[in-house]
Amino acid sequence: MEIDTSPPRSFGPALRAARRDQQLSLGQLALLVNYSKSHLSRVETGGKAPTDMLARRCDEALRTGGRLSGLVDAGRPGRRGPSLNQLPRTAPGFVGRAETVAALDRTLQAAGTRRDAAQCTVVVVDGPAGIGKTTTALHWAHGVARRFPDGVLFADLGGFGPGRPAEVSDVLRHFMASLGAQAGTDVPAEHLAARYRSLMTGKRALVVLDNAAGAGQVRPLLPAAGGCHVVVTSRDRLSGLVVRDGAERVTVPPMAEDEALRLLEAVAGPGFDRSAAPDIAHSCGCVPLALRVAAQDIAGWHRSPFDGPGGGADEATTLRTVLSWSYRTVPPAAAQALRRLAAGGCETVSPATAAGLLGTGVHEAHVLLDALAEVHLLHRTAPGTYRLDRLTAAFSDEMDASRPLRPAPGGLQRTGPSTR
Ligand SMILES: Nc1ncnc2c1ncn2[C@@H]1O[C@H](COP(=O)(O)OP(=O)(O)O)[C@@H](O)[C@H]1O
Ligand SMILES: [Mg+2]
Repeated sequence: MEIDTSPPRSFGPALRAARRDQQLSLGQLALLVNYSKSHLSRVETGGKAPTDMLARRCDEALRTGGRLSGLVDAGRPGRRGPSLNQLPRTAPGFVGRAETVAALDRTLQAAGTRRDAAQCTVVVVDGPAGIGKTTTALHWAHGVARRFPDGVLFADLGGFGPGRPAEVSDVLRHFMASLGAQAGTDVPAEHLAARYRSLMTGKRALVVLDNAAGAGQVRPLLPAAGGCHVVVTSRDRLSGLVVRDGAERVTVPPMAEDEALRLLEAVAGPGFDRSAAPDIAHSCGCVPLALRVAAQDIAGWHRSPFDGPGGGADEATTLRTVLSWSYRTVPPAAAQALRRLAAGGCETVSPATAAGLLGTGVHEAHVLLDALAEVHLLHRTAPGTYRLDRLTAAFSDEMDASRPLRPAPGGLQRTGPSTR
């Protein structure tokens, strides 16, 4: 009998083998890749599917030269239509979003009329944390994948998340390997980008870049070929891509009330008391992530919308955590401003009223409000008018105890309890 000495071909066993090769315990690897030990253990035993981000971090930590990332692609189901389709699966039970999907369809129609242009078309799908950017973009991309005979590339750019954003050169290497070209680790990013652009020339491919940190991370990943279509999701409005690179913007709004009710009903299951649903939808701001958590609460989980359905097992699903990733990217002065607006009970604010509340000049207040709006912690409802939604207000009120809220200029000093 022949003994098979080739490396394991599925992700979990390959990860375990690579970890043991490096003589690392699960706990040590967990620290290196910034995932929990229990999550890694479930991935190793096949109980949880690895994400691209996890695979990439494990490749880096275990020096496996991209082998683990390759196994993520190999293990993905549904390779029909284009021969190369890297889109991750979406959770079952997609609800509504007809308008956003139609807006994405329109960008594709516009691209069709510009097929022989030298530029690929780029669409920025933006919106606040948990609003459904990734889910909607993936749902749409699965629907149109067949129209891209040369394939669908996908990368999680890790822009707002627990770790550092993905390195552009790693993503380029991953894309090139998927297209059948190898590149050494010593090739500089600009050369990789040039080779990637030549590989994409003449191709009709869809590229989905999820959770981008900023325009600078996205630009080297844009093919020059006219037949390619790129969809970028981000919590950042990526104004640079829209203004300088001609990207189109599709902003994902909160769900319509009927969509929110359908989502609540789908997650809460039979026996759900519909009379309470409108209040729940309203208190969740019709944000899908909050609705999912609330619906699980109704189903018997009894947690606040800020707690994740898995009791913190998967931190990407807790609203507090995902909001904190936006909060961390703004300058400290903007974070303080957000907390003060929340503490002041502001729902709608102009630069002039913010200046009064923050003790700054109007121009400075305007800059701070824009910084918050750029990552959707505030919503610009009209020129010079900004709205703070209730979930973000509740979150920022309790956020970051290590950076105490400075007393409001001229504000009342809170006195201690009376001892009489
Ligand atoms: N249209 C939808 N139907 C059902 N669930 C949704 C929908 N949109 C988002 N969700 C759920 O809401 C959560 C947050 O969505 P996600 O796409 O990750 O948000 P974002 O990328 O904007 O941060 C996920 O659990 C997702 O499954
Ligand atoms: Mg997302």
